[in-house]
Amino acid sequence: MESGKERVSKELSERMLNLLGFCFYLNRIYDRGLSLCEVRWKLINFEKITHPLIAHALPLLGDKISSYLSKRNVESFYPDTTGGLKEYSSPLDFFNFVLEEFNRFEDEIENTIDSAVSEKDRASEGFLQSFLLTWIEYVATMNNIVDLAIQFAPNNESLSWQLFDDKFEKGITVGDN
Ligand SMILES: [Fe+2]
Repeated sequence: MESGKERVSKELSERMLNLLGFCFYLNRIYDRGLSLCEVRWKLINFEKITHPLIAHALPLLGDKISSYLSKRNVESFYPDTTGGLKEYSSPLDFFNFVLEEFNRFEDEIENTIDSAVSEKDRASEGFLQSFLLTWIEYVATMNNIVDLAIQFAPNNESLSWQLFDDKFEKGITVGDN
């Protein structure tokens, strides 16, 4: 830890701010896919339920990081995020990509915890541990959504997707805790 008034080292706070940027990146990915869900695939219920529950929770998770850093006297910056232009061949293609990125974010949180541990920054370690426990609910939800999508629409037929749209809600674990 540095001797200045910031209570988190420059290296660790940069890693944490990259996590913050990741949250906003995930928000753009998810919002883009939701637009396809609603307009192209008519997964109206999926869009309505997961837009506030997942898409809009992502920047709020980022804000948890900046508010922790503020308490440690560290100013936040917001890394650039890339445009939400990605194309998907099916809802499952979108869900799989989100799950991959959610898993990658989990790995990044764990790597950042390792940095906090090696710096003996116990407050940051504690914050990141609780952040990780919050995050695993989003990963669990996305895992369930992928599995339910495979069960309901293995052949990518539009009628099967409508059945998925009626039933996917049981896979949501976010908000249970
Ligand atoms: Fe949105």
